[in-house]
Amino acid sequence: MATTDEINRRRTFGIISHPDAGKTTLTEKLLLFGGAIQVAGAVKSNKIKKTATSDFMEIEKQRGISVATSVMSFEYKGKLINILDTPGHKDFAEDTYRTLTAVDSVIMVVDSVKGVEAQTRRLMEVCAMRKTPVIVFINKMDREGRDAFDLLDEIEKELKIRVRPLSWPINRGSLFKGVYNLHKKYLNLFKPSTTKVADEVLQITDINDPELEKLVGEKDAAQLREDAETLEIVYDNFDVQEYLKGNLAPVFFGSAVNNFGVQELLETFLEVSPTPRGRETDTRFVEPEEKKMTGFIFKIHANLDPKHRDRIAFMRVISGKFQRHTYYHHVRLEKNFRFSTPVTFMAQEKSIVDEAYPGDVVGLYDTGNFKIGDVLTEGEDFRIKGIPSFSPEIFKELVNADPMKSKQLEKGITQLTDEGVAQLFTQQPGNRRFVGAVGELQFEVIQYRLLHEYGASCRFEPINMTRACWLRSENQQKLDEFIRFKHSNVVYDKDGHLVYLAPSDWFLKMERENNPEIEFHFNSEFKTETVEY
Ligand code: G4P
Repeated sequence: MATTDEINRRRTFGIISHPDAGKTTLTEKLLLFGGAIQVAGAVKSNKIKKTATSDFMEIEKQRGISVATSVMSFEYKGKLINILDTPGHKDFAEDTYRTLTAVDSVIMVVDSVKGVEAQTRRLMEVCAMRKTPVIVFINKMDREGRDAFDLLDEIEKELKIRVRPLSWPINRGSLFKGVYNLHKKYLNLFKPSTTKVADEVLQITDINDPELEKLVGEKDAAQLREDAETLEIVYDNFDVQEYLKGNLAPVFFGSAVNNFGVQELLETFLEVSPTPRGRETDTRFVEPEEKKMTGFIFKIHANLDPKHRDRIAFMRVISGKFQRHTYYHHVRLEKNFRFSTPVTFMAQEKSIVDEAYPGDVVGLYDTGNFKIGDVLTEGEDFRIKGIPSFSPEIFKELVNADPMKSKQLEKGITQLTDEGVAQLFTQQPGNRRFVGAVGELQFEVIQYRLLHEYGASCRFEPINMTRACWLRSENQQKLDEFIRFKHSNVVYDKDGHLVYLAPSDWFLKMERENNPEIEFHFNSEFKTETVEY
């Protein structure tokens, strides 16, 4: 098949949600449709979130499983679908943000009872920053949830995105009967099935068909017709271009666990969602159709097998054709590498791959050469834009607990932060090390892994910092002055960028007011706001 055909048949996306909204359940139903799994219950990675926050040993145990579900690929009606898994646990939010750099669109799951939740809001901000096209799936319609119109209003207001319902629920809670597809104008009433794809589908192609009364009852039929009319008045027609630009989110309603509305979602998703897109770099835009291979690392998973201490770097192919046993240029290290056992993931099966196309994710075995954001090319030098570090939320000082093992500690903390477990900041002079993470769990993971994988002991001591801001100024003198006056709060990130660690938002506000010539940025890549895929 020609490369263009290969590109056009691929869809690479992520499913995101606040924990418990139904991301895992929906993923599983999609895999069932694709025939990638035969029974429900096969996707377990997300269950990590169910463990207590400090129970990271459980997470260690789950590691192997979550690697297998990092990418779930399956074919459906001639399309090759790559679902990139995003951790549900809030302490791994940064991992999720990074995974979102590797997708071309997302499906956002919202719980119909709870509506928009904290994590939904934050994830949406990340999507908005990159203009990622979003489809919303309002789940758990079988519960006594909120009114569908109210939910749409809340999404528009809270997530700051225009919406356009493409399916509509027939009643809700215990009376929920199915969904009407407004896009295609047909009604599908599934028989609920929690374990397999429903094979019995009752279809009506005309909403005025008297058959509707027989199937859902007079009251619900009348309500559906009234709602459908209202929707046509209230909402503009669905404009695919607006969706692709990230300005408009089509909305579907359903119940993942009962398999209501999932097929509508999948079919429309395949019809409208973007094919693999190119990526912006610091020199030019890389188009997927380009002949030469380009890919970037968005995730690193370590220590799959404690006996071998290997890592697996996940590379998203941006352009060209990736081939096994071929030399590629590692831009940051200025070295060439080739890979004899690159892997892809078909559902839960890992298998060696000979070639991969734009949109695909390839797992590369690594012995410490990769860092998040690294780029492989066929010789050209550039960096991919849009993979910034975001401000961590918790900061602690890393203290060496065993001076005889300084080297091991150095190596360990460098590698773990290259993997993106947390961020490392260094203060000069003095070489004090601060670690910033999104959740408490990361500190435990680091401490444990430093000891077990590198033989280094460390302690984390609390410090009074709450936010990291990357600094920039046209006026070097002002910047130098700021560094001098605020030396106890000024640090460098791993790439040598200047960072201000603010003790509180109040301090940050004050410093911004007092230093108008200095820019304070909440992520390491200042122009990400304008990056459009
Ligand atoms: P997550 O990945 O977003 O965190 O959510 P997950 O799919 O694990 O779903 C969270 C809980 O919500 C699960 O119940 C799941 O069965 C349930 N759920 C998912 N979709 C629906 C739906 O459409 N309706 C209803 N009523 N429930 C739904 P659990 O009891 O926490 O886990 P389990 O023992 O059922 O796996």
